[in-house]
Amino acid sequence: MGLVSGRSPEGSFHVPVMVEEVLAKLVRGTESVIVDCTVGGGGHALRILERSKCFLVGIDKDEEALEVARRRLASYVGRFFLAKADFREVRAVLARVGIPRVDGVLFDLGVSLRQLTDPSRGFTYWGDAPLDMRMDKSGPVTAANLLETCAEEELERILREYGEERYARPIAHLIVTEREKRPLRTARDLVELIYRAIPARARRTGGHPARRTFQALRIAVNRELDGLDRAIETAFYMTKPGGRVVVLSYHSLEDGVAKSVFKRMEAAKVASILEKKPLTPTKAERERNPGSRSAKLRAAALI
Ligand SMILES: C[S@@+](CC[C@H](N)C(=O)[O-])C[C@H]1O[C@@H](n2cnc3c(N)ncnc32)[C@H](O)[C@@H]1O
Repeated sequence: MGLVSGRSPEGSFHVPVMVEEVLAKLVRGTESVIVDCTVGGGGHALRILERSKCFLVGIDKDEEALEVARRRLASYVGRFFLAKADFREVRAVLARVGIPRVDGVLFDLGVSLRQLTDPSRGFTYWGDAPLDMRMDKSGPVTAANLLETCAEEELERILREYGEERYARPIAHLIVTEREKRPLRTARDLVELIYRAIPARARRTGGHPARRTFQALRIAVNRELDGLDRAIETAFYMTKPGGRVVVLSYHSLEDGVAKSVFKRMEAAKVASILEKKPLTPTKAERERNPGSRSAKLRAAALI
């Protein structure tokens, strides 16, 4: 996910991450179709359209993000198609527009700062936002639902695995004890509970004490890791020889999935990995856009 601490030059709340590196790997100037599986507000998509003559298919499961992308790409009408879908359904989206094979696929995983900072979306731990966290507002489960129904062991696993939260056990335990008395509905309810669950010294170090719990819940609510490996593998099989697959990730679990699919594809002689080690943002980009700090870019060329 590309986060920023402010508005981008394009006037949005999301600055696309490692744009030059993405373009260098993805765009060769000869391609006819590129799929942006996580088009978001269209930051990368706009640059791809500017830099190439391709037709761009943009997918996102967030309706609001697609609206922003549609506006941002308006001067390229006729050269793009946007679809509200999960990227795990990318083949079906391409079938709808009659495209069997493509020349490049981009995944820019996670959430956008726009989603994170809009209080009505419930991703933020600031204020009184409802605990929603769905990227797709028609999705069946909100963070509040999860907190209400999840077994204690499962909550602990989610917090430990997805949030790398060392106080996963006491936080999960307090959630289950407290929800008997009253449901956790807002960010404030959960933040207060986290402060009570963790030792006093942990409240003062390592960033906001609720950051890890919120990240873990977001990953669980949106099932961000389920089927990710299949989706990336599908991208390889729908890309033409010479074409590119590029994955930007912001979390060690996501990057681990990307890394293992890339290795598998190389071993099967489907593709060759372009950089043995993932690329990371320059110091200048990390300073300009703190949300880019954890980014890792993997790219491969189809054989
Ligand atoms: C980091 S943002 C992408 C930002 C975009 N590259 C830009 O420059 O504006 C990630 C986007 O992926 C979307 N997303 C995450 N998982 C998805 C999935 N499984 N299917 C479709 N979209 C997804 C999110 O809704 C979010 O808009």
